[in-house]
Amino acid sequence: MTSPANSSSLQNVVNSTAKASNSAAIKKLPRHFRDLLALEDFERHARRRLPNMIYQYVAGGVETGRGIAGNFEAYQQYSFIPRMFRDVSGRDQRITLFGHTYQHPFGVAPLGGASFVAYQADIALAKAAREMNVPMILSASSLVKLEDVHTANPDAWFQAYLAGDQPRIDRLVDRVAAAGYQTLVVTGDTPMLGNREHNIRSGFSMPIKITPKVAFQCAMSPRWLLGTVAQTFLRHGAPHFENTDAERGPPMMSSKVRNTHARDKLSWKHVEAIRKKWQGNLVIKGLMSPEDAFIARDLGADAVILSNHGGRQLDHTIPPLHTLPEIAAKKGAMKVIIDSGIRRGTDVMKAMALGADFVFLGRPFLYGAVIGGQAGVEHAMHILRDEIDRDLALIGVRTPTELDRSYLRKRTDY
Ligand SMILES: Cc1cc2nc3c(=O)[nH]c(=O)nc-3n(C[C@H](O)[C@H](O)[C@H](O)COP(=O)(O)O)c2cc1C
Repeated sequence: MTSPANSSSLQNVVNSTAKASNSAAIKKLPRHFRDLLALEDFERHARRRLPNMIYQYVAGGVETGRGIAGNFEAYQQYSFIPRMFRDVSGRDQRITLFGHTYQHPFGVAPLGGASFVAYQADIALAKAAREMNVPMILSASSLVKLEDVHTANPDAWFQAYLAGDQPRIDRLVDRVAAAGYQTLVVTGDTPMLGNREHNIRSGFSMPIKITPKVAFQCAMSPRWLLGTVAQTFLRHGAPHFENTDAERGPPMMSSKVRNTHARDKLSWKHVEAIRKKWQGNLVIKGLMSPEDAFIARDLGADAVILSNHGGRQLDHTIPPLHTLPEIAAKKGAMKVIIDSGIRRGTDVMKAMALGADFVFLGRPFLYGAVIGGQAGVEHAMHILRDEIDRDLALIGVRTPTELDRSYLRKRTDY
């Protein structure tokens, strides 16, 4: 039998071997990845590479920033009650959604304008997701043709921002189907754009205007100017909103404004019509209210993504984590997915313990693309994958689907 002294020296050997192999693995990474140990680190690095207006466009919330802060606080309100002496070997993160078995329980949320933040980011995100076998949702406000993203990743999902104009909706749905997409995401939280004052303060506008402030910021961020803007213009021409409608939209730097007309006329009757027309999986994004989630369920949605748009639309919204359990309890056959504020494996575990079938993250993966293109996104995904694997073991389960409310306490409960 091993004495306590022996066992502690054995533990020291194990720890130092693990540390040595961990640091050997870290040494193999390109230098600029070495201190990217958690998803929070990506923001700091990306910020240094981007002009302030572009960083603010990605990082920012709206008005007082309460919505965005609330998202992070929501996850802090839960603590784990881990279980011990369970054989947790053979851990498996796979989750099946719509008949596709994904390798991990997370995916890439739709990120409008991503390819102006990092060179061809939509393609980098799509390829990283394909490599990792996780879903990636292409945004309606993307600058790369949806057909090209489908070629890069035939399993990508497409997200639409729709006007309440059925013929226009039908034409877009036909285009998305013709391109081969199998999952259509309709975002409901954007009848108008949120009040993003930080964009005005930092000099960001759509279309982008070259003011002295903007010119100065660009000059101070040569990597972005040469690596993203110059490369995009040289290789692909002026970036356009490619996928807002069935037809190509205007260039993002022209004074011609994108057709966001009548988005405030979008209603459930349009969702109902889309459900009848669209043969693939239908996902409704941007819901927080249980009532809305149940309407989506009753209209035949295959999934909802509970989301407050990462705190970018209405300020002071409830973090979706707080309505998740109520919605998950009555979801029926519909899948319940969540995003907004997820940064750690423990956040993923908490969401799944509260009833989520799957989660998405937005900003961290875009920061990954800023730092290292496809490799940067994959590095972020590896970090999250490894955190989830460790968390499963330490909580005492083998798969995320074993998690339930019994593994958590809300702060007020103890
Ligand atoms: C730069 C940026 C652009 C976004 N563009 C879209 C979009 O085009 N469509 C959409 O449904 N959501 C969009 N979102 C919201 C994300 O899909 C997602 O809901 C949010 O980022 C999740 O929060 P997180 O960033 O805290 O993970 C965007 C978010 C960011 C940060």
